[in-house]
Amino acid sequence: SAVREALKQVSGTYGIAVMHSDVPGFIVGARLGSPLVVGLGKGENFLASDVSAIVSHTTNAIYLQDRDLVYLTADEFTVENVDGAESAYEVSQVDFTPEQAEMGKYPHFMLKEIFEQPTSIQNAFRGRLVDDQASALLGGLGLTPRQLRDVERDLLSPAGRVGVEPRERETAVDGGDVERIVLCGCGTASHAAMVGEYMIEHLARIPTEVEIASEFRYRNSPLDKNTLVFVISQSGETIDTLAAMREGQRKGHRVLGIVNSVGSTIARESDGGSYLHSGPEIGVAATKSFTSQVTVLALLALLLGRMRHLSVDYGQRLLREIRELPAKVEKILEQSDAIREIALKYIDAPGMLFLGRQFNYPTALEGALKMKEISYIFASGHAAAELKHGVIALVSPEVPSVFIMPRDSVYEKNVSTLEEVKARKGPVIAITTEGNTDLERIADDVIYIPEVTECLNPILSVIPLQLLSYHFSVARGCDVDKPRNLAKSVTVE
Ligand code: M6R
Repeated sequence: SAVREALKQVSGTYGIAVMHSDVPGFIVGARLGSPLVVGLGKGENFLASDVSAIVSHTTNAIYLQDRDLVYLTADEFTVENVDGAESAYEVSQVDFTPEQAEMGKYPHFMLKEIFEQPTSIQNAFRGRLVDDQASALLGGLGLTPRQLRDVERDLLSPAGRVGVEPRERETAVDGGDVERIVLCGCGTASHAAMVGEYMIEHLARIPTEVEIASEFRYRNSPLDKNTLVFVISQSGETIDTLAAMREGQRKGHRVLGIVNSVGSTIARESDGGSYLHSGPEIGVAATKSFTSQVTVLALLALLLGRMRHLSVDYGQRLLREIRELPAKVEKILEQSDAIREIALKYIDAPGMLFLGRQFNYPTALEGALKMKEISYIFASGHAAAELKHGVIALVSPEVPSVFIMPRDSVYEKNVSTLEEVKARKGPVIAITTEGNTDLERIADDVIYIPEVTECLNPILSVIPLQLLSYHFSVARGCDVDKPRNLAKSVTVE
């Protein structure tokens, strides 16, 4: 009762465990806004903020609701709300194995998760490719053709809004009259959203915008009636993304989630959506969740595109290319040692620039985020052509520039920008398409990735960037799995 009384006076979000030396073996847990999971074992119970912490002990979990309290001993538990009334709960089965939450043969979770990407990408598209329609199926969106044709009218019906797991809603969808799409997320998820923006506009011609969740929740962005909002989050617990979702719903919009963590708050409260099925991501730096988010967004773009004017031929080609992604990622992973050698060459670099255009502009942002969060050096990502508008002042022999420049429609433009960097004695690491040996003449180091259609390129080009930042940071003695000042999920503002 002391905890209950105290919580009535607390404002803001919390996820807490309270113990008292007079009552050993008894824990009171409480949550509001921040996640809290109870693990039910035999003769032992657990309290954690994430299921990956308990999965090696039990797979029976209760995801507590906001304002819930749990009274926990080794053998018993009771769930109540902050007013002392009984609170309903459900015991769920955690859908991943203890091995998935262990490092196994890898020295770090980050490296393990980078190497899991052939499988995690496959899991993101498994069962979702529809060959006879040259399209994709994202049944969890829970939208019927008619609902998607008239988003506003559908919203008048509250059916299915709360508490329905995305995967339970297996209905065919149609792109109908969606007039605008808003994609919302933070950090890496916002970079995946940016790739999604380019893909949806390219394939489906639907105006799409990316909103950083923390901005979206406070600015009064006008949302037209036929706007579909997606929130993208690995953890499903990021407070800004959660708040953005609730703000969208408060304005009467259907908000769909693209989420990895089953049972997370966004998975529970969104109006449907798609899971990534990546398995647990434990390293603080997001790696496999990015490639899975982009894969799911590619499926969404394909689905919406095929409802409009994307040809059967193009649809089939995309399906083929999506299927080939895991093998292509494997090929890039084989270069891990070579990428480590490149990282070691620049080990004293005080900073790094990441440059890419179009589909690979978000990849450049993601590469820079990876580098700064785990190595602590200054790194910044830019649309390559922006270089001459200011960034070029940073180019020097000490600061390497990483160019993401596959042989695509903007390749020649990227070559000119690269030459400008070289003319100023800036070292260049280029990531380009296999077979394009031209760059060996001008770049200091070249990393090759297999050929893939332009819009899917970020799924491949981000892998060398992940490996580069990983090897660079390990060599500098940084704790890549738990970088300083960072938390895996940001559940406070
Ligand atoms: O769990 P979420 O996807 O919502 O997390 C969003 C960001 O906090 C996250 O992507 C963060 O930027 C990563 N640590 C970057 O590697």
